[in-house]
Amino acid sequence: QAAGSIQVTENSFINKLKSSGRSLVVFYGSQTGTGEEFAGRLAKEGIRYKMKGMVADPEECDVEELMKLQEIPNSLAVFCMATYGEGDPTDNSMEFYEWIKNGEPDLTGLNYAVFGLGNKTYEHYNAVAIYLDKRLEELGATRVFELGLGDDDANIEDDFITWKEKFWPAVCEKFNIESTGEEELIRQFRLVTHGPDDIQPNNIFTGEIARLHSLQVQRPPYDAKNPFLAQITVNRELHKGGDRSCIHVELDISDSKMRYEAGDHVAVYPINDSNLVDRLGQLTGANLDEIFSLINTDQESSKKHPFPCPTSYRTALSHYVEITALPRTHILRELVEYCTDEEDKKKLMLMATNSQEGKAMYQSFIVEACRNIVHILEDVPSCKPPLDHLCELLPRLQPRYYSISSSPKMYPETVHITAVVVQYKTPTGRVNKGVTTTWLADNKPEPGKPLPRVPVFIRKSQFRLPLQSQTPIIMVGPGTGLAPFRGFLQERAFARANGKEVGDNVLYFGCRHRDQDYIYQEELEKYEQNGDVKLNLAFSRDQKEKVYVTHLLEKDMDLLWDVIGNRNGHFYICGDAKNMAVDVRNIVLKTIQLKGGRTEAEAAQFIKKLESMKKYSADVWS
Ligand code: FAD
Ligand code: 2AM
Repeated sequence: QAAGSIQVTENSFINKLKSSGRSLVVFYGSQTGTGEEFAGRLAKEGIRYKMKGMVADPEECDVEELMKLQEIPNSLAVFCMATYGEGDPTDNSMEFYEWIKNGEPDLTGLNYAVFGLGNKTYEHYNAVAIYLDKRLEELGATRVFELGLGDDDANIEDDFITWKEKFWPAVCEKFNIESTGEEELIRQFRLVTHGPDDIQPNNIFTGEIARLHSLQVQRPPYDAKNPFLAQITVNRELHKGGDRSCIHVELDISDSKMRYEAGDHVAVYPINDSNLVDRLGQLTGANLDEIFSLINTDQESSKKHPFPCPTSYRTALSHYVEITALPRTHILRELVEYCTDEEDKKKLMLMATNSQEGKAMYQSFIVEACRNIVHILEDVPSCKPPLDHLCELLPRLQPRYYSISSSPKMYPETVHITAVVVQYKTPTGRVNKGVTTTWLADNKPEPGKPLPRVPVFIRKSQFRLPLQSQTPIIMVGPGTGLAPFRGFLQERAFARANGKEVGDNVLYFGCRHRDQDYIYQEELEKYEQNGDVKLNLAFSRDQKEKVYVTHLLEKDMDLLWDVIGNRNGHFYICGDAKNMAVDVRNIVLKTIQLKGGRTEAEAAQFIKKLESMKKYSADVWS
């Protein structure tokens, strides 16, 4: 086919590749930015192999053009694809995934490789990448290098660089190219500083997510790019003792036209700790009130800036970049260039290399010591990077999700959050604080002051009550895993109060101590008195032996089987993905075998069927 036959549209990635002399396109399916970051790193590294690269968001491209990529000689498509929730693709790769799955495009001649981003704590580990890798081959494409799988529960950075190390030689062999040997440290964005005369204050971003003034002049519909600035009307402590904190926050959504259902999630955009922001200003010697823009040096890129620009460094560090996340190795590599001390250089360089020693050092100095960028600059004192380069390198600050702990039937105008405040001491003696939960905990309504406000949006989930109120349900939610079940209980109590017949509500809740972290105790006990719930409580640390919700469930296998096996009921788990959810699932499997008379394999099938019928649902996080 002649090159001219490609239909050029604005979304034509092939046209962009051709007009800029590139042969590598790296697509990403990214929910929290890591997939996008990995894609960017791969695209940038292509230069080393004379393969100029470009990143592409499948949502913004004509993905059908993959059928024509072979028109570009020695071309390659790489996919950095994350898996979310119950084995789902990310929001931005949903359509592409459907097209690959249900369409029958002929991809003969397409060279590809896939790297997956997943988390082993979840049931469907890297399901999207595994499927895509297999499916592309089925559709005729040529796998240039084996599938790589990253596990965010362990060390996904390590998995990625280990994969990359073998990926590039395979690419070189396939296309018969040689590495230039040089490492390219090229900036993706160019700094422009603005003096007071060349920029109107009105044109400076002050924390908006995308559109200028979107937080000042609010316009529905609200979503991730256009969040609603909600007032915090209630913000109180739920724990009665102990050294941890769990807060109950109510967000007013009455003017937003946003709707929610019990089981949905609310996403909250946090603001970084101002002390850390100031500290970063000190450590880099920057004037935080300076107004600047970072402009993509790649004119073909659809991403003109890494975050809304022009803005001040203070705004960028407070609203736009993640300053408390643990920096990845490519950032350490860039920092080497800004060290004056040879020892400091060596140390950072070592951590950025793929040797066993380097990996071990990264693991201990960064991961185990929980050092964020501020801690690194403090502990590697000769390193003085310019703040604009740091702003380019740090990942974009992400919204955090919370399982809504209210029902719209009871609270149509507010959304409730139940969150544990993240705070922990690190091995270097520092106290690290969770960005969002710390911000929320610090922003309580005060008499005589305007209510605090926070940008939020609602994300629909699959975690739903049965359609029929008579259907019995079992809910397992220790700790903050109780959140969505508070909403479920409100919904079902509301239905019953309105004369509907409501099936059994059985709740398993666990915490450390009855008199400390038994959250919503009064509400739950009132529901129990009214016959709205059957409570099963596990206080793990009130006696010598640990008691968990799992212990209670194991004793209740008859009831469990009766609900899921005989009475068509629904089973829900919420909370910790890593241990609790896995243990609970195993008990359900065991119950199906022991009480339902199924073999191990049949029990696994049984659960799968329940899942596909939405009768077994998990809302878990790690
Ligand atoms: P961050 O700044 O994001 O810091 C958290 C990070 O700090 C962790 O990822 C971990 O890397 C690190 N960290 C934390 N503790 C330690 C430690 N002891 N040692 C070393 N490192 C540590 N949370 C709730 O409280 N309630 C909910 O209802 C809820 N629902 C959720 C629903 C979904 C679908 C998802 C994905 C998550 C949910 N979460 C919930 C978790 C929530 O989104 C945030 O991750 C959590 O509140 C922390 O956010 P943060 O910004 O305060 O902390
Ligand atoms: P622990 O902290 O005493 O170990 C909420 O976090 C509650 O869940 C706590 O009481 C906690 O107990 C308990 N928990 C910890 N691991 C669990 C698991 N695997 N299954 C069920 N509950 C667990």
